[in-house]
Amino acid sequence: MTEVTETTEATVVTGNSNDPHLQPASVHPKRTEKVVAAFIVLAAAGFATYGATYWQGGSAQLQGASLGIGLVLLGIALAAWGKYLLPRGPFMEARHPMRSSDEERARMANAVIERGRLVMHRRGFLGKLLAAAGAIMGIVVAFPVIRSLGPLPKKSLDSTDWLPGSYLVTAQGLRVKASDVEVGGIVTVFPVGHVGNAMDQTVLIHASAVPFTTMPGRESWTPEGYVAYSKVCTHLGCPVGLYQHQTQQLLCPCHQSVFNILDGAEPQFGPAPRPLPQLPLYIDTAGYLRSQSGYDQPVGPGFWERS
Ligand code: FES
Repeated sequence: MTEVTETTEATVVTGNSNDPHLQPASVHPKRTEKVVAAFIVLAAAGFATYGATYWQGGSAQLQGASLGIGLVLLGIALAAWGKYLLPRGPFMEARHPMRSSDEERARMANAVIERGRLVMHRRGFLGKLLAAAGAIMGIVVAFPVIRSLGPLPKKSLDSTDWLPGSYLVTAQGLRVKASDVEVGGIVTVFPVGHVGNAMDQTVLIHASAVPFTTMPGRESWTPEGYVAYSKVCTHLGCPVGLYQHQTQQLLCPCHQSVFNILDGAEPQFGPAPRPLPQLPLYIDTAGYLRSQSGYDQPVGPGFWERS
């Protein structure tokens, strides 16, 4: 009797010799068996011939032929044996049902849900921690930046300390007289009381032995050939201190802007976008150089200009 076990995925045959799966493929297995046997005998004869020929020292051709024929016949016999005489199958491997029990499946589902909750909880917690760390880092990074900006300039960039009547003094604090500077000479000056102030620094040039006019409306600004311009370059604020008397030019050493002092320090070359502001001068009765007023426009780089 054939015993068949039902499983989830396969049917397992464990039956006896009447089972069709165990029957050979050949319709006439007995006859096939005899044919296979004949091939095996012939193959054996071929091997024996090879052995005898080898023993007798026969020709190599006969040895090779007999051995080859024996192997071919044996191969045919084995192939026919496997194809026609062995059980045809199919054969399936028995295995246990793969499906988990309902209880196990429910337990697994709960575990997954619980783990998901844990993961989400951790992510929320980590997100808050990350935000806090980012805030601290932002403050720490911003603090030195903000601190390094220094105090707000407020209105200090709009005007300087030059006032009507300010004495021109050197970096040593000495008042400058009209007789102190030879024609072709240059001196850095400040308004009295503000020596060293970067925005007040001014170049005083004795450009000519006679008065001249830099621009219409400035006829009185250059007494006895003296002219004064802000020393703060209108490009990026470098000190413009290189004066060439022959060409009457002021040169900024940073990016080579060139200003002509005879025509209101109009830029002739370089990136400076506007002229150096001119300080109106006068010579008092004691011979001291003094400012008629402050600059009529902000000094320094062009982007500070409000007009
Ligand atoms: S700062 Fe004077 S040319 Fe650039």
